[in-house]
Amino acid sequence: MSTATRVAFITGAAQGIGEAIALRLADDNIDVALFDLKEKEPLLKNVVKQIEAKGRKAIYFVGDVTQEQDVKTSIDRTVETLGGLDIMVANAGITIFKPFVESDIEDYRRIMDINVLGVVNCFKYAAIQLIKQGRGGRIIGACSGAGKRGINNMSLYSASKFAVRGLTQATSLELRSHKITVNSYAPGFILTPMLAHPDDDKFGGHGSVAKMAAKMDPDYEGAQPSVVAELVAYLIKPEAHFVNGQVINIDGGLLFD
Ligand SMILES: NC(=O)c1ccc[n+]([C@@H]2O[C@H](COP(=O)([O-])OP(=O)(O)OC[C@H]3O[C@@H](n4cnc5c(N)ncnc54)[C@H](O)[C@@H]3O)[C@@H](O)[C@H]2O)c1
Repeated sequence: MSTATRVAFITGAAQGIGEAIALRLADDNIDVALFDLKEKEPLLKNVVKQIEAKGRKAIYFVGDVTQEQDVKTSIDRTVETLGGLDIMVANAGITIFKPFVESDIEDYRRIMDINVLGVVNCFKYAAIQLIKQGRGGRIIGACSGAGKRGINNMSLYSASKFAVRGLTQATSLELRSHKITVNSYAPGFILTPMLAHPDDDKFGGHGSVAKMAAKMDPDYEGAQPSVVAELVAYLIKPEAHFVNGQVINIDGGLLFD
């Protein structure tokens, strides 16, 4: 893989883990294309400003990862504007905390659409572009500890993240001959807006309501999104070429493979 300026495309980049990854990669002289929902446009503009302040190029796209055309067009425009694509981080995702028997087909469709189809779209159009360029690349997906072991009140989320794990393994097999690696991160509890609840202050701070819903140990401490960003910064290094098809736990030792 070339060590010239590289270009990363990151979904769900307006906040949380995606934002942290965008800022971290900019520190490693990588130009960044950000992608998130239209309602997140003000946040996207703010991330662009922060990246430009680091001396890197940044552009943003508003769209929906479940819409194949949104993903394809944004990748094409990234290539036109920033000169290519080297790294895809398919990070966008949602969670639903609900007892299984109360979950309905709308919940199922929404979570599978965003967390699975969204990642499929990103992996596919990134792979097509990376193969066309012929200089290898890195594809990274957002899995979760819930993609390794089922979690209380997160049945549909767990199902969606198990799917990301399967996709990561299978696509890594098909893409390795193109010098493209595919890996995913499997965080434990990361303190982002995803895990914030209006009643958090009553129960012990950020994430406390989510922890109760998931029946997790209240003493288990979450981490900042920067810990995941550091793992991604490693996975995209040329010397990380031998890490492939892995779904890497980053959870303070919650799960052992
Ligand atoms: N926070 C955690 O503890 C944790 C743990 C394990 C896995 N993850 C995974 O990491 C990823 C990022 O999580 P986060 O905590 O930063 O979440 P977050 O909710 O803070 O950020 C997710 C971003 O994705 C965007 N998004 C949602 N649906 C989208 C769509 N259809 N199209 C485009 N963008 C969309 C949202 O607008 C948001 O900006 C998710 O896939 C999540 O499942 C998070």
